[in-house]
Formats: sequence, C-alpha cells, structure tokens
Amino acid sequence: MIRSTRAIVQFAAVAAAALLLACGLVVAQPAPAPAPASAAAAGPAAVALPQPGEDNGARAISQPGNNAPMWREVRGAVAGATTLPGLEKGVLIQPLVQYPGTRVTTAGEAWRELRNRWLIPYGGALFVITLLALAAFYLKRGAIGGRHPDTGRLIERFTYFERAAHWSVAGSFVILAVSGLVMAFGKFLLLPVMGGLLFGWLSVALKTLHNFVGPLFAVALAVVLVTFVRDNLPRAGDLRWLLRLGGMVGGEEIASHRFNAGEKVVYWVGVFVLGIAAVGSGLVLDQLIPGVQPTRGNMQVAHIVHDVATLLMMALFLLHIYMGTVGMRGALAAMKTGSVDEAWAREHHALWCDDIEAGRIPAWRSMAADAEGGAAPVAPQNPAPT
Ligand code: HEM
Repeated sequence: MIRSTRAIVQFAAVAAAALLLACGLVVAQPAPAPAPASAAAAGPAAVALPQPGEDNGARAISQPGNNAPMWREVRGAVAGATTLPGLEKGVLIQPLVQYPGTRVTTAGEAWRELRNRWLIPYGGALFVITLLALAAFYLKRGAIGGRHPDTGRLIERFTYFERAAHWSVAGSFVILAVSGLVMAFGKFLLLPVMGGLLFGWLSVALKTLHNFVGPLFAVALAVVLVTFVRDNLPRAGDLRWLLRLGGMVGGEEIASHRFNAGEKVVYWVGVFVLGIAAVGSGLVLDQLIPGVQPTRGNMQVAHIVHDVATLLMMALFLLHIYMGTVGMRGALAAMKTGSVDEAWAREHHALWCDDIEAGRIPAWRSMAADAEGGAAPVAPQNPAPT
C-alpha cells in the first residue's frame, strides 16, 4: 500500500515539473518584433496590401519579405531595372504566349514545350520513317530505268555551270543537315555513347561549321533557284504525271519534259518555299538580317520556323537524293558528267527528247552557246555505250 502511494506522489511530482517546464518554455518565447511605426501607424487594413507605386525599397519597410508584387511584375513581363547586359535586360521572364500544341505560358516555356514535345519527336520520326520507306521501296522495286540499251549518242543534260551550282548547294546542304541533326538529336543519340567531353567538342565544332556554311548555302540556293526556274515552270502533262506518280509505282513511265512533275514539286516546295524559309530563319538565328534584333522572342520564332522548314526539307531531299543516286539508273551520271545517253532521255524525259530531235532545243546547249561565240561545235559520242 505504502509503496504505491510513494509511486503516485513521485509520478505527480514529475508530471508537475514537466508541466511547469513546458509552461516556462512557452512563456520564454521572444515576443515578435513590434511592427515598424509607419505600418503600425497606418492601422491593420493598410499593412496587408501593397501601396500602388510602392517600389521594392518602400515595400521592404512596409511589408518586409513580401516580394510578391515584384515577382508578379517579373512574371507579367513588366520591364524593370536589372544589372543584366543585353537587349531585354529589363524583362526577366517573357510574356505569356501560346504556340501551336502548347499551353498558354511564358514564351520561353512555350518554345521549350513545342520543341521537346512536337518538333524533336515528330521531326525525328519523319526522318526515320522516310529513310525506312525509301529502303523498303528500293528492296521491293529496285532501281528504276535502264529498259533500253544505250544508243551511244549523248545529250547534254546539265551544263558545267548548272552542275557547279548544284553541287555547291548539295554539298553545303549535306553539311548543314548533318550538323543540324547532331544539334537537334545528338543529345539523345550521341551523348550517351561519346560522353560529355567528346560530344561537347563535336557539337561546338559542328555548330560553328553550321553558322558559317549557312550563308554559303543561301548564296548557292539563290543561284540554283534562278538557274533552274525556267525548266521547272508547269507544262502540259505535269498533272497527268502527278496523278500517276510518273508511273513509278508500276506500269510505263509517263512522258515528261526536261524535269518531270515530281522534280518540279521538289523544286517549288523544297528549293523555293522550304529553302527560303530555312535560309531566312537561319540568317535571323545567325543575326545577319539588319534590323532584326536578336531578342528571345525573335530567336524562338526563327528557331521554330527553321526547325519545321529544315525537317521537312530533309525528308523531301532524302527522296531527291534517293532518286538522284540508287533510285534511278544513270541519274547521278547526268549530274556528274553533264550528259546522258539518248536512250535514257527517251525513257525518262520523252517530251524533252522530242524537242531535241525536232531541233527546238540544242542537244548541247553549252556548245550552241560557244558556237554563237564562233567555236566549232562537235557533239561528243558516248565512249562506251552500255
Ligand atoms: C547529296 C545530295 C544531292 C544529290 C546526290 C543530288 C542529285 C541530283 C541529280 C542526280 C540530279 C539530276 C536529276 C535529273 O537529271 O533530272 C539533281 C537535280 C537537281 N537537284 Fe539535286 N542532289 C542533291 C542535293 C540537292 C539539294 C540540296 C538541292 C537544293 C537545295 C538540289 C537541287 C536540285 C535541282 C534544282 C535539280 C534540277 C532538277 C530540277 O530542277 O527539278 N539537289 N540532283
């Protein structure tokens, strides 16, 4: 009996001591610093709301720690004063925008969303699908042409100047395409394999090359546009060619003039429309267009246009390169040597061949030009007709 009473007393004492200690701690809390005189003087309502026109300094006194109004302005793209260098130094966060396929959000975020959610995955898929489709077509159909044996008589298809213009644009395009693909997809495909250091050096070198070859491509593209425009104008028979895809997917090849309707589509869509969009936006990104300031907004829009135009252009020129190399017998030779056998011209560009046979077009334009200049024209023969 006595032992349990002592235990109760001891427990009560401990509990009381603990209670007292706790009360002591509460009591010991330092009292909050009194509100500075001005806010206190203004009464409870004024303290809660920022005063219109109150700058950060004043608010730091009236409402210490409340930077919400400043960040609301920053987020609202209101120009303020900063020590940052550059064009838009006063605007830290860009205004809200909505690009196709993105939320309404700040421009930088919208651009990032558009690039990472649409341009990279779908652009990459388009490139890979085009490659696979061309490979499947080649495996199924093989190279087109070569139905008739060579005659041994050669016709000039491309003059020296046309070939020089073509290979300048082709060479610079391939450099731009490869360096562009590394800039867009290298992070996913090369970085894991090469590691940061090597990939870093590679992408800096290719980006620099891209920036310098871009303007060269622009000049070569302009020359090609002018050089080939006349023979890419629409003619009778082009629609029929397009509707039958030139007979490429079975049956006889549809007659066409110097360039068939498929080549004309590549010219007007690929070289003209997409080429000009790619070059124009590229020159903005290179900061070479006078009067176009390199603001974040301009760079983002130029980048989106550049990405869309070049990804579509690469898919289209994969087709052009396919037809210009393994897809059609004798095509590459035409752009390498400048001449084709009459049989090739008859098979693929019958209406053009008719005009040459009828004398409406000289078989050797560069020689005709020389003849006008007084040189004796001699039409070369095909040394080894196949
Ligand atoms: C490695 C890349 C390329 C290869 C192998 C290639 C190959 C060829 C070949 C073989 C031809 C002659 C076709 C025929 O006789 O009808 C040709 C024509 C042509 N190529 Fe390319 N090409 C390439 C890149 C380019 C690029 C990048 C452009 C322009 C941006 C281009 C523009 C043209 C034009 C305008 C023609 C004349 C046909 C026409 O005007 O429709 N090529 N190419």
